[in-house]
Amino acid sequence: MKVIVTKSYEESCRIAADMIRDEVAQNPATKLGLATGSTPIPVYYHLVEMFQKGEVDFSEVHTVNLDEYWGLSPDHPQSYHYFMQENLFSHINLNPQNTYVPKGTGDAAQNTAELTQKVYEGGVPSIQLLGIGANGHLGFNEAGPTLVANAHMQALTQSTIDANSRFFEAKDKVPTLAITMGMREILAAKTPLLIATGAAKAQAMHGLLVGDEITTQNPSTFLKLHTGTVVIIDEELAIMSGAK
Ligand code: F6R
Repeated sequence: MKVIVTKSYEESCRIAADMIRDEVAQNPATKLGLATGSTPIPVYYHLVEMFQKGEVDFSEVHTVNLDEYWGLSPDHPQSYHYFMQENLFSHINLNPQNTYVPKGTGDAAQNTAELTQKVYEGGVPSIQLLGIGANGHLGFNEAGPTLVANAHMQALTQSTIDANSRFFEAKDKVPTLAITMGMREILAAKTPLLIATGAAKAQAMHGLLVGDEITTQNPSTFLKLHTGTVVIIDEELAIMSGAK
């Protein structure tokens, strides 16, 4: 696991965007694993800017997203389909047919099987962008007594519902279920790339960066099993989490 400590979250996002740009330059038809949430928004902003300046061409790139709320249609403003359109897809030259965000409506078993297929078909993601939940979740693999290996339907924990309620009109409007890649799909990427910022993530990042323990109570600790993992953390959070 490689840990990059930056001066700021802004620098963290710039480094992540540079890594993605360099990967696409080297492998124009690469597959990128993408994430939603607040953390990667500036990464997408940088990628859009790079595209506008002609520094990166996404025309052959494939993408697959980590997760989607269950019960939200693609045009729901809080759906992850909508998020990806707004923050990235509509601003760059990705072929819509080469993008995949898990489906939040329809047949759950079929949708999870399709997500797994999209991760593996034609080769696994080169970079899998990741944020981290306050409880250490990756995608929607929530902290608990067990984890699930493959893509699945996941019940969200109260702490995740509370954290994500900031995007909804009311707490009771937050979906309680989501479709997510499992740990196996996340760890299939050549480079799982986690960006973390903010005091709320200190405890989870302590578990990831300090010591050698792996626990389902902090799913991010499974990143220790992957030699290709890259963690980008700003100095402030590195200090708060005891990693620096
Ligand atoms: C999003 C996702 C989640 C978020 C995590 C952190 O696709 O899979 O695991 O990365 O909840 O969210 P933010 O970045 O909003 O703190």
